[in-house]
Amino acid sequence: MAIRTIREEGDEILKKVSRKVEVIDEKIQILIDDMLETMHKFNGVGLAAVQVGILKRVVVIHTDYEKEEPLILINPEIIKQKGEQTVEEGCLSFPNKFAKIVRPEEVTIEALDRNGEKIKLTGKGLLAQAISHEIDHLNGEVFIDKILPGTLEYSSPEK
Ligand code: NI
Repeated sequence: MAIRTIREEGDEILKKVSRKVEVIDEKIQILIDDMLETMHKFNGVGLAAVQVGILKRVVVIHTDYEKEEPLILINPEIIKQKGEQTVEEGCLSFPNKFAKIVRPEEVTIEALDRNGEKIKLTGKGLLAQAISHEIDHLNGEVFIDKILPGTLEYSSPEK
């Protein structure tokens, strides 16, 4: 496993649409392991492959490091969403920037896991927020373009 470089604000790749994964081969397995390691190293809640420069529809999410295993989603698609929540949000590609944003309160998705098995799950609260944020990345959308006006805050780098 290896830590990959996170692409940051201003990098044009973040605006590109990622391609569907056709074959879950060894390269994808290595990518997933590296994404998990990179997300954990920077204490992220989620990471999309585009953020490490790979335009493939692969996402890792980990909302509770202590109680849950990370979620690995390949070719995720939202099939249903419900409600709204106004939440504080950040992104590993926008270090030290945080803002309020409206996300669905609940999302149901279909995806493949790392073994290529179909999974369907419903996430609420933080998980719904993370899924929505990461799927946006796969579509070339970044949170900063959707934030509620006047809510942008900068945290100190030491934090
Ligand atoms: Ni992000």
